Amino acid sequence: MATPHISAPEGAFAESILLPGDPLRARYIAENFLEDAVEVTSVRNMLGFTGSYRGTPVSAMGTGMGIPSAAIYITELIRFYGVKRLVRVGTCGGISPDVKMREAILAIGACTDSTTNRRRYNGWDYAPTADFGLLRAAADAADRLGIKTHMGNLHSSDLFYSGYENTLEIWQRMGILAVEMEAAGLYTIAAEERAAALAIATVSDHLVTGEVSSSEEREGTFDGMVRIALEALHSLPE
Ligand code: HPA
Repeated sequence: MATPHISAPEGAFAESILLPGDPLRARYIAENFLEDAVEVTSVRNMLGFTGSYRGTPVSAMGTGMGIPSAAIYITELIRFYGVKRLVRVGTCGGISPDVKMREAILAIGACTDSTTNRRRYNGWDYAPTADFGLLRAAADAADRLGIKTHMGNLHSSDLFYSGYENTLEIWQRMGILAVEMEAAGLYTIAAEERAAALAIATVSDHLVTGEVSSSEEREGTFDGMVRIALEALHSLPE
């Protein structure tokens, strides 16, 4: 079986999956966190792997950047490969002064400037929200691991190099914690396709302070977020 963007046999993916944007991060998860991981797809170098974590079958696959790219992989994974629980593990730019560099955010919801959700929802404003079971499992896992997290709203933007006036001010007024580029799409597609989703995002740069983290720092904090995601998935009933 193959879909237009994934070339893997039926049953190649576990029901639980971690979704970094970068396919090399998917390989990193497979090599450093999963047991007996095998590569299951590499179409366009968008690598996907399946293995297990403490006995729980888990896959990891890149999504690319932005909702349009991520939406293709997320839809095909759920609709054609039976994936049921999806956890995005990505980076974000801090907006709230309360969130600090390298801290992780569990996204209760995700606002967006993308029109993709309105197109799915008859022009109305769909409220993209996390699956509560996954969110609670991740919050509990973070507590057990002793990793500090924030919970709140992200903003998923179609623009990385934003030219909007006053954007930051509006986001701050509405209590947005950070900006990234995929969570709102993930939550909406998961709802439409009847799957459970959660986005976890580590602050890799800060729009208020201007701080930027080095690649080594990003790696260290990435590990904490992956551990939260894997422990959360492992703790859920089948
Ligand atoms: N903007 C959008 N996405 C991001 C950012 C950002 O500043 N940082 C990490 N992902």
